[in-house]
Amino acid sequence: MKIGNVNINGKVALAPMAGVADRAFRELCVRFGAAYVVSEMVSSKGISYASEKTISLLTLSECEKPCAIQIFGNDPPVMAQAARFAVSQNPDIIDINMGCPAPKVNKSGGGAVLMREPKLCGEIVRAIKDAVDIPVTVKIRKGWDDNNINAVLIAKICEDNGADAITIHGRTREQMYRGTADLNIIKEVKNSISIPVIGNGDIKSPEDAKNMICKTGCDMVMVGRAALGNPFIFNEINEYLSYKKKLSAPTIEEKVDIMKQHVNSICKNKGERFGITQARRHIIMYVKGLSNAAKLRDEACKLESLEDFSKFCDNILNSI
Ligand SMILES: Cc1cc2nc3c(=O)[nH]c(=O)nc-3n(C[C@H](O)[C@H](O)[C@H](O)COP(=O)(O)O)c2cc1C
Repeated sequence: MKIGNVNINGKVALAPMAGVADRAFRELCVRFGAAYVVSEMVSSKGISYASEKTISLLTLSECEKPCAIQIFGNDPPVMAQAARFAVSQNPDIIDINMGCPAPKVNKSGGGAVLMREPKLCGEIVRAIKDAVDIPVTVKIRKGWDDNNINAVLIAKICEDNGADAITIHGRTREQMYRGTADLNIIKEVKNSISIPVIGNGDIKSPEDAKNMICKTGCDMVMVGRAALGNPFIFNEINEYLSYKKKLSAPTIEEKVDIMKQHVNSICKNKGERFGITQARRHIIMYVKGLSNAAKLRDEACKLESLEDFSKFCDNILNSI
């Protein structure tokens, strides 16, 4: 599959996830078979102020290609300028966030609230298309709420204004993350536009991925929460889609080994002190399902250093 002129060699992507899908996690997911990854959302206004935190969110590495940088905001010229700046970090694609349900983001005019202003959606896509010479994609939801389901309209407007692909999460903004993702709306969007459609929402297993592709005809699927503490899911989906083969679940030793590599990589990128606090969220997800998960979760929340973390890992392995 191609997004614009960018080749995507596979059918599973990692979803953008603020606070978790950072460079270390994206690199890991690519190693485990994610064919495409998207950065955490970055504020277009933040980019224009060039805040240090914002700029660090934009840093990409060669090990995570092809990769999109996702930006949010609502002012076409500011979004265009932010996209131009983001291109200097060498992403393959610019993705526009029109799906974030967070009140803080929506109050500033960005994310899912844009779906209530179809004309503005088109203007934003057009402004960014005119500003950069790499593909531009848009991530949307089903609509604002059950009375305002307009994903098809928004997808068409985005396509007409130059978007190169659409990702659709099959929930309304009102649903946030509740209920289930609607496959029908993904199918409707796929049948209404001719650019690639990436389906998203509730993929927790290889069977879910296959089901979404079969039922909606989407060109690719995107996995978010199910990849947390479980980057193995990309290989599992790839094997299942290609060969109908079910891979066995990773052993505890394998999980601990990957968790160590992941946490070390976070600390290398962000420094040990800040890195370990950021890593706690991931560690909690890696230990989910282990026999003493509740105790491990409590311990994970108190980790202060890589030395603490090393002891934590030894304890897990010694208790097998
Ligand atoms: C912690 C977290 C952070 C997220 N951050 C973003 C984001 O920055 N940009 C975005 O478009 N979607 C974001 N999302 C939404 C996901 O990309 C995805 O659409 C959603 O989780 C549904 O997919 P899933 O069921 O596979 O998790 C986030 C989701 C989670 C759980």
